[in-house]
Amino acid sequence: RKKVTIQALQSMKEKRTPMSMLTAYDYPSALACSSNPLIDITLVGDSLAQVCLGYNSTTELSLSEMIHHARAVARGTTHPFIVADMPFGSYQISIEDTARNAVKLIQEGRVEGLKLEGGSEIRDTVRKLSGLGIPVMAHVGLLPQRHVAMSGYRVQGKDVDSARKIINDALALEEAGAFSIVLEAIPKELAAYVTQRLRIPTIGIGAGSQTDGQVSRSYLPITLCRWHPQVLVWDDMMGTWAGHKAKFVRRFGDLKTERDSAIQKYAEAVKLRTFPDDSESYTMDKMAWEEVSR
Ligand code: KIV
Ligand code: NA
Repeated sequence: RKKVTIQALQSMKEKRTPMSMLTAYDYPSALACSSNPLIDITLVGDSLAQVCLGYNSTTELSLSEMIHHARAVARGTTHPFIVADMPFGSYQISIEDTARNAVKLIQEGRVEGLKLEGGSEIRDTVRKLSGLGIPVMAHVGLLPQRHVAMSGYRVQGKDVDSARKIINDALALEEAGAFSIVLEAIPKELAAYVTQRLRIPTIGIGAGSQTDGQVSRSYLPITLCRWHPQVLVWDDMMGTWAGHKAKFVRRFGDLKTERDSAIQKYAEAVKLRTFPDDSESYTMDKMAWEEVSR
């Protein structure tokens, strides 16, 4: 498949072709994403912190750790558009510091776009990076980097005020130059509405799936359409993450059972001396060996 560009993503929205984004954290997971032409975007998500590095929260991930993993993902990426999360702390201090960190992550992490969490309060940051020619993917709704301030990982935009805030945030971020936006853990009606209001692609995680037809809320008339891109975390999708399963996660595979049984079989075979067998061992010329062992 040809390299995916921003223009290609934009025309997918216009043609209502659903878009799929999947996270990758290293070379093998990046190769796996690239091996399937149906994957449009590979995201080096800062969920890297929990699922790969064993941290408790994405706030513990540093810029240099993100760069290290992004480089590995870039080495394994062919056609998908490749985006990395800007880690917590790398885009909050000042515009200059943010620009420096963004350039560093693009150059050293070798990714094409950067994802930033936040609403209209980060519009100037988004404008600055977009102005430098750095494609920005916005992210509203549940913001994992703010889980303490938000009192946990909770669905957002359920009441009128917070739903209105999400709509206004999304519009402000589009206006500031974002090329796409992630909608995380918000009601499906709200996600459908935002998707329709914006010109740029929205990518849902825990934001429902749109179908044809009409639905209306008292304050939001909504026309649903077929178009609804999705994103999932690698370990959630493969079934290798044993921790909490969020409502919006579907485990498409059960690699954990496969993996655990392979470890069990390997260790048993070692203990029983059935691995390696003769076909898996090297031999030496008999005469030569006699001479050595004499
Ligand atoms: O870090 C991540 O994996 C993410 C998404 C799944 C959107 O930001
Ligand atoms: Na993230």
